[in-house]
Amino acid sequence: MAVIRASEGAVAEAAGELKKGRLVAFPTETVYGLGADATNGRAVALIFEAKGRPRFNPLIVHVADLAAAKRIAELPAKAQRLAEAFWPGPLTLVLKRREVSGISELVAAGLDSIAVRIPDHPIACALLGACALPLAAPSANRSGHVSPTRAEHVEGDLGDRVSMILDGGPTAHGLESTVLDARGGRIVMLRPGAATSDAIEGVLGETIDRALEAGSSPQSPGQLASHYAPRARVRLAATAAAPGEAMLAFGPDVPQTAGPVINLSPSGDLIEAAANLFAALRRLDATGVAVIAVMPIPGHGLGEAINDRLRRSATGR
Ligand code: TXA
Ligand code: MG
Repeated sequence: MAVIRASEGAVAEAAGELKKGRLVAFPTETVYGLGADATNGRAVALIFEAKGRPRFNPLIVHVADLAAAKRIAELPAKAQRLAEAFWPGPLTLVLKRREVSGISELVAAGLDSIAVRIPDHPIACALLGACALPLAAPSANRSGHVSPTRAEHVEGDLGDRVSMILDGGPTAHGLESTVLDARGGRIVMLRPGAATSDAIEGVLGETIDRALEAGSSPQSPGQLASHYAPRARVRLAATAAAPGEAMLAFGPDVPQTAGPVINLSPSGDLIEAAANLFAALRRLDATGVAVIAVMPIPGHGLGEAINDRLRRSATGR
């Protein structure tokens, strides 16, 4: 899809594409984002497929205003102060996600938290207003490439994978947003970015911790972004479920089993499977079974990220 100058009509058309579950690249003040309806798991799975990422990482949800942020997440006092000072703007807050947020589990890659920001760009804001949806949007580049600061960069990387690329010219910052964990008493910088630590500390009237600074925090970035680990043991490449095991199935040929079964995609569609993965793991775990037996899942396309996630839930704890 070619680049389209972001007129009012183009924004309305882009909003329509997003509502249909399609991908739209749009400018923000930091970098161009690859946007999808954050409440539509299948649309979010398309983001990972388009980026060609070998694993699921949590995405930022872009919203139009503070009220929309509060429908999704809880803002403790310090988060509220940061939001009032920096939004709209290049600051992303990792917050506790509301129990009923409507956001697809895939957006936060199974975490209980959610990263939220209000972008400060007329086209991003017009798009959020026109679609009236929270938009999950990572930087609009293929995995491993640098973040795009011009519509042509997006076209080169993802031109054949998005419905529309809204052109708003070069981005103002050319650098991603600063990501802060604002859930607890101490504010922790997870990713430095366009909002400086000086400005953040000025608003808070106190210093912040840095996730990457040795000794400053007991948590490594890996732990901070630690993924949902099922309580049940996960058994991979299962051809059948033993008594007492739950089955995470894939495809049309599911072996008979007495225990709970969730099929990630009866038709064998990896996009649908990715969309359902985290919610399915949680639901099977909640049945109280000791073991979740997982049928083999092909390794191509999104299968690579699905298998990465399943391997890590089978081993790493
Ligand atoms: O400027 C930006 O932030 C751009 C524009 C499009 O908004 N977006 C962007 O998204 O850079 P992405 O997906 O490339 O980077 C998201 C960052 C990653 O470092 C990710 O680990 C972190 O935010 N993140 C997202 N959700 C998180 C969560 N729940 N917990 C911890 N880190 C999270
Ligand atoms: Mg990125």
